[in-house]
Amino acid sequence: MSRPPLSTAQLRAHVDRLPRYLLGHYPTPLEFCPRLTAQLGGPKIYIKRDDCTGLALGGNKTRHNEFLIADALRKGADLLVWGAGVQSNNCRQTAAACARAGLQIHLVLGRGGPAQGPDKIQGNLLLDYLVGAHVDIVEETIGPDLDARITLETEAHRARGRRVYGWDKHICKPLAAVSYLLCVAEIVEQGTTQGFSPRAIYTSSAGSTGAGVALARKALGLDSAVHSVAPIQWPYDTQADMAEIAQQAGLLVGLDLGMTPADIDVRFDCIGPGYGKLSDAGLEAIEMLARTEGILLDPMYSGKAMAGLISDVRAGRYRAGESVVLIHTGGTPALFAYAEGIVGKMHPRRLV
Ligand SMILES: Cc1ncc(COP(=O)(O)O)c(C=O)c1O
Repeated sequence: MSRPPLSTAQLRAHVDRLPRYLLGHYPTPLEFCPRLTAQLGGPKIYIKRDDCTGLALGGNKTRHNEFLIADALRKGADLLVWGAGVQSNNCRQTAAACARAGLQIHLVLGRGGPAQGPDKIQGNLLLDYLVGAHVDIVEETIGPDLDARITLETEAHRARGRRVYGWDKHICKPLAAVSYLLCVAEIVEQGTTQGFSPRAIYTSSAGSTGAGVALARKALGLDSAVHSVAPIQWPYDTQADMAEIAQQAGLLVGLDLGMTPADIDVRFDCIGPGYGKLSDAGLEAIEMLARTEGILLDPMYSGKAMAGLISDVRAGRYRAGESVVLIHTGGTPALFAYAEGIVGKMHPRRLV
C-alpha cells in the first residue's frame, strides 16, 4: 500500500503516540568532516553524533531506552533483567537509564563464544558497576543461548515476586526501532538547514537501529540509501528479522508501510575476524577519524561501520559534491577495554 511521504513533523506526531521517558540531549549534532572528506577525496562526509546523546557516555541505546524504560514503567516494573556481551554498550546504557529512572537492573553478561572479549573491569563493564547494576558474567554465547539464560533469570526473579521487565526481543526491538524515526527526522531537518540531502546514510546495526532508519526512509519517501553495517552475523536471517522489526515498529506508531526484506540493506563484510574482535579496517577507520576530526569511534560497531563507508568511497561509489552521513552509534568506552589490541596496531607519530 503506497501512501504519500510524511513530513518530519507528521512522523514525529506518529512517534508521539507512544510513551517516552526522556534520557538524552536532542537533536544530536550533525557535523561536516572537512579533513576526513579531503583525505578520502570523495563525497562530503557528515557524522550524526549519536555518541553525544548525553547519558553515561552516550550512544544509540539512549534513544532506544527512552521507549523501553517508558514501557517498563507503564507496566509497573521494578527490575530489568538484561544481557549481552561483557563489553556491551547496550547494557551500560540500559543500566544508566535504570539508575536515572529509579529501577534496579540485573545484567547477565555472556563471556563465551563470539562475545569473547576483554572482561577485565574496564570500559563498559566498569561503568555497569559504577551505575549500580547487579552483574553476572556467564558462559553462554550471545544470541539464543544467552537469551535462554536471561529468560531463566527473569523467571527466577518473578518467582520471588519481583515485577520484572525482561528482554523480549519481539517487544523490545520494535520499540527501540521507533526511536530511530526521530534520529532520521533530525538528520533531514539538519540537512535542510545545512543545505544538503544525503545520498546515503550508514549505521552500525544488525537490528533495531537500521530497521528504524529504513522505516523512516520509507515513511519520509527519502532518496537516500540506508546501509546497515552489521557488527555480528546472527544465527538467523538478519535481513528478514530487521524487516519484521521495522514493520512492527511502524505498527506501534500507526504506520503500516508493509516493510519487507527488500527495504533492508544489511551487509556483513565489515565484521572482520568476528563479533567482539578487532578488525584491521575498523582500526584504520578509528585512527583516520581521530586524526582528521578528533572524533572517537569504537572498535566493535561505529569503527567497522565507518570502515564500510570508507571502502565504498574508495570503490568510487559516490561523486564529489554528494553527501553521505554516518550515524555514530557510540560505544567509545570499549576503546579502553581493547587498549592493548589497539596500541599494537596504532601508527605512532613523531615530530621531526
Ligand atoms: C555502539 C553500538 N552501535 C551499534 C549497535 C547496533 O545496534 P542494533 O543492532 O541494535 O541496531 C550497538 C549494539 O549494541 C552498539 O552498542
